[in-house]
Amino acid sequence: MKVFLPDEAATAAFGQALLDAFPADLAGWTLLLSGELGAGKSTLARAFIKAAGHGGAVPSPTYTLVEPYSLPRGNIYHVDLYRVSGEEELRYLGWNELDDGCRIVEWPDRAPGLAQSADLSIELGYEGQGRMARLLGLSERGKAFTEKFK
Ligand SMILES: Nc1ncnc2c1ncn2[C@@H]1O[C@H](COP(=O)(O)OP(=O)(O)O)[C@@H](O)[C@H]1O
Ligand SMILES: [Mg+2]
Repeated sequence: MKVFLPDEAATAAFGQALLDAFPADLAGWTLLLSGELGAGKSTLARAFIKAAGHGGAVPSPTYTLVEPYSLPRGNIYHVDLYRVSGEEELRYLGWNELDDGCRIVEWPDRAPGLAQSADLSIELGYEGQGRMARLLGLSERGKAFTEKFK
């Protein structure tokens, strides 16, 4: 499924729409956000986290790797793997302990094996002045989500 996002507000609205389409309990879902620098991964993640009820800032997890949010819809872990190389390093950093929440992951290609256990892939790319988002279900429930989201 593809969605054209003409401006930043459209990316934010898409993040909100994704959150709204999720089941009430987000625990255990893994969303992969890929695309080059400036494609809008953090913009989308920020909108998703705010839509889930977070009122404050959403700092980039580039250095902390994980920014945790404890919200009415459950825990959300905003993960940035830019500085990570491989699944083993990711496990060492505590990836498995984040399974009580929803993991929203930037630069998932740094640990390609993640795709096997993830639910959704959202690929953002430049398209003229705007962006194109491609939503792809990876798991069974991810595929069902994508079908319903259309
Ligand atoms: N749909 C869009 N069209 C045009 N510009 C956008 C769109 N979505 C986001 N932007 C802008 O592009 C930049 C994206 O930055 P960011 O979300 O940090 O990207 P990333 O995390 O992928 O590096 C921001 O300056 C934002 O204002
Ligand atoms: Mg980013």
